[in-house]
Amino acid sequence: MKVSTPFYTLGIESSCDDTAAAILCDGKVLSNCIANQEIHKRYGGVVPELASRAHQSNIIPVVTAAIEQAGIEKKQLNLIAFTQGPGLLGSLLVGSSFAKSLAMGLNIPFLAVNHMQGHLLASFIDHPQQQPPRFPFLGVTVSGGHTQIVLCKAAFDMEVIGETQDDAIGEAFDKCGKIIGLPYPAGPSLDRLAQQGNSKAFTFPIPKMKGLNLSYSGIKTAFLNFIHKHQNKDPEFVEKNREDLCASLQWALVENIFRKLEQAVKETDINRIVIGGGVSANSEIRARLLDKAKTDQWTVHLPPFEYTTDNAAMIGMVGYLQAQSKKYSDFTAIANPRLGF
Ligand code: KG4
Ligand code: ZN
Repeated sequence: MKVSTPFYTLGIESSCDDTAAAILCDGKVLSNCIANQEIHKRYGGVVPELASRAHQSNIIPVVTAAIEQAGIEKKQLNLIAFTQGPGLLGSLLVGSSFAKSLAMGLNIPFLAVNHMQGHLLASFIDHPQQQPPRFPFLGVTVSGGHTQIVLCKAAFDMEVIGETQDDAIGEAFDKCGKIIGLPYPAGPSLDRLAQQGNSKAFTFPIPKMKGLNLSYSGIKTAFLNFIHKHQNKDPEFVEKNREDLCASLQWALVENIFRKLEQAVKETDINRIVIGGGVSANSEIRARLLDKAKTDQWTVHLPPFEYTTDNAAMIGMVGYLQAQSKKYSDFTAIANPRLGF
């Protein structure tokens, strides 16, 4: 039984360092607001204690802005969907406590949402630039916190079939970028520099992992040792080779997940791919996926950028889809940093 329309969902996302709120009317996004936390730039990575403090100051202004920009009043809301996990406990606590309290105040239902499901179902947001994928598909989540290949049989039937055993791909981009002096988060600038370099100039090892699992810590260590070795001989090595270093490193980081994705396509016989997470903005990943769509007839879903990085629209979308069954969460649904599928 479907919910009545119009059905207004408030999505709230606070799993890491972005405080985000969005309003959806049915499957359409009316507003998608985000407060990025600049404070972490100074430390070259997310500081959990500072992230939860910043969420506390940001959450009310962000939710207020989302409601205002949507042109609705809070009493029109039908549902609040919030990120339950995975993520940083302190950050999740702010979003989940706020969402449950607001739902209680408004006397409306709420739903605790899995952040990873959000990344994988972002393609279902009603948007002129995207057609929703057909099930089953292979979901690929690539971000600063996750690197997974997920077999998605239905919206709420997902199974992780491969994942990193150590660092996430975005973390590898950020940490390697830091080694060569790029500001945090280094992924976007490393990508820009890579586009002017030669990806075959240097070689970094691609780890061999069992099955569809991945590792990124080895490439990072190899990159660090390589830079130190060359800097000992020539202190200007990085300045002289920055673009080629970025291009060669990016090739290795992307090749690592691509090998596993090709293996997953072979093993499951599914060639519909949905990608999510901040690293899906990467030019090398996008180019390779589009190339596969041409040469091997893969069907590739690359959601619009605002729905691939951490955002609240994707959380609202999961809430809206889940609400169709009219099964809501109760107050025992609490923040869970290690929430699985
Ligand atoms: O999904 P996201 O916004 O947040 C989480 O980590 O959950 O992803 C952020 C990550 C960062 O590691 C950032 O460096 C990376 O996505 N990133 C990129 C690019 N744009 C963002 N990495 C490589 N190439 C890019 N163009
Ligand atoms: Zn994420």
